[in-house]
Amino acid sequence: MSAELWNSAVRVLENNWQDDHTVPSRALYPHQWSWDAAFIAIGLAYVNPIRAWRDLRSLFEAQWPDGRVPHIVFDPATAEEDYFPGPGFWDVPAYGDRPARGSTGLVQPPMHAIAAWDVYRHAAAHGAACALQARTELGWLYPRLVAQQRYLTGRRDLGGSGLAAIVHPWESGLDNSPAWDEAMANVPADLGLLAVHRRRDLDRVDAAHRPTDLDYARYVGLVLSYRGERYDDTGLLDRHAFAIECPAFNAILATAELSLAQIAGELGLAAEAAAHRDRAESITHAMVKRLWNPRTGMFHARDLRAGKLADARTVAGLLPLMLPDLPAGHVQAIMAAARSERFGLGERPAPSYDRTAPDFDTLRYWRGPIWINMNWLLRRGLLTQGFRDEAEDLRTAMVRLVHRNGHFEYFEPITGEGLGAPAFSWTAALALDLLADRSVPAYAKAA
Ligand code: SER
Repeated sequence: MSAELWNSAVRVLENNWQDDHTVPSRALYPHQWSWDAAFIAIGLAYVNPIRAWRDLRSLFEAQWPDGRVPHIVFDPATAEEDYFPGPGFWDVPAYGDRPARGSTGLVQPPMHAIAAWDVYRHAAAHGAACALQARTELGWLYPRLVAQQRYLTGRRDLGGSGLAAIVHPWESGLDNSPAWDEAMANVPADLGLLAVHRRRDLDRVDAAHRPTDLDYARYVGLVLSYRGERYDDTGLLDRHAFAIECPAFNAILATAELSLAQIAGELGLAAEAAAHRDRAESITHAMVKRLWNPRTGMFHARDLRAGKLADARTVAGLLPLMLPDLPAGHVQAIMAAARSERFGLGERPAPSYDRTAPDFDTLRYWRGPIWINMNWLLRRGLLTQGFRDEAEDLRTAMVRLVHRNGHFEYFEPITGEGLGAPAFSWTAALALDLLADRSVPAYAKAA
């Protein structure tokens, strides 16, 4: 099983390589996506470390002067009508040496320091020349990764709490998660916008598997509002209809600080390494204070405009297991939620949303289906907290799911059928990592 899965994953990454980056899917996403690039680099590290670094480098070459790393970097060779919303819609001004309309103005979860450290650790296995290149790449990326964190914990600390806020569901990467339903109900929805701006995703994927038109009307409206202010974050909370502190985004933000501590240590920057560790600890404390719901024993999204936690229990609320400083009582409570019938950890990978919720939807994008990247992060959390047997069961369950059903974007959570885009890059890349990485990774807590 391993060799067949390994070879098919390599083929997916090979077919999705485009000049200097990997597209998430030829069918649906023909540009470069930010957090996709990070997950993809983690897999490429095993088979083509030069491409792993190239993918990360081309993404960071599009970093904005304020430190934000755009959620899509547009491929100029791809026509506007091949993806909506394309470069013309975003209308991003020129910056640095980048031409106008080269990217979006939104961000995505900052997975890149985590990826850079993983790629670096694995590059050594490819021999001395690779190790030398890895050090150069790590040195190039480090200040850029730091600037990315500074943007997110500075300009994007809209709640003044030490956490980063997202200002569009696309920034979470979990577009139509039920975690945003209450906040999105307060976002104006003008369905007429979809007559002017035509969706392209439905030409390629069943509408029942994608966000609704109502969702898209709000997505488009939120971009128009942010774009109208030239993507300026000053006073954003007062004038923008959507601002959320997401537990998955912030768990990744804190984990990125821990990876930066390791990178700084490797680069001989001991004082900076200590500062990164402190920042990871502060983000963890802020999350416990702001996003923990003692009633559900999970983390939830905080709607900054309404000043309250969302009710929905989603897989994002389990990911803070990745934080080594999480208090033991919180770890136990999350594990109880993860093992419960809501997420069913142990039998199969966790669904994106509570299986027992009345609106659990087995087909629709982030409203029920299983996603490999979320489960990869969850496994990392299990390892961090020392749940090695459960981490191994989850690894096996993910490998089995992808092997049986193919490298799909997401999976039906009862039958395992593949949904969304086929030949999806991060599913293939993370399958490589899951096949290769049977050991206890270096970020696990000491026993
Ligand atoms: N995830 C969005 C899409 O479906 C864009 O980031 O196109």
